[in-house]
Amino acid sequence: MDASSVENDLVNILFTEEEILEKLEEMARRIEADYEGKELLVVGVLRGAIMVMADLSRALERHVETDWMAVSSYGSGTKSSGVVRILKDLDTDISGKHVLVVDEIIDTGLTLSWLISNLSSRAPASVEIATLLRKPEALAMPVTPKYVGWDIPNEFVVGYGLDYQERYRNLRCIGTLAPHVYS
Ligand code: IMP
Ligand code: MG
Repeated sequence: MDASSVENDLVNILFTEEEILEKLEEMARRIEADYEGKELLVVGVLRGAIMVMADLSRALERHVETDWMAVSSYGSGTKSSGVVRILKDLDTDISGKHVLVVDEIIDTGLTLSWLISNLSSRAPASVEIATLLRKPEALAMPVTPKYVGWDIPNEFVVGYGLDYQERYRNLRCIGTLAPHVYS
């Protein structure tokens, strides 16, 4: 879906589809270099990371295995609850594997720091994070993503996998939601 279809719902387009794809290509080149000669398992965090997973994994010019996890962090609102629950675990045994967790956004960082300590307890060879977006609060967390697309201000954004009440995930760009949509 293009921004023109939901024109009045967005106040600002932060990143176009072209800019996102270009950023993921850059990220893919770095990942290829860093993991050269190593087997890599790319883990997408459902459901927000679906678009990043699709485009980042296809940008990688090498073999990768893929798997998915689903965790709950937000309810239907726009604030992180801090309570994390595994809704769908990995199908893969990650012991001895190089794991790259792919997420679309780190806000408070609560979800990912929980996830990383959970995955680390399964004896992988390494666990790193790639995220398309990062908000300022995440900088205070001990968990640091190895790959960050963009640092963005503390605003609620939608599109390219990011939702508000399950809508806008299918938007090609990433934008800021107009306040009237919340009320
Ligand atoms: P955290 O635990 O606060 O880092 O947030 C984890 C999850 O909340 C992200 O993976 C997203 O699914 C969701 N989230 C955080 N900020 C936003 C936003 O601005 N728009 C949509 N979803 C968000
Ligand atoms: Mg997410």
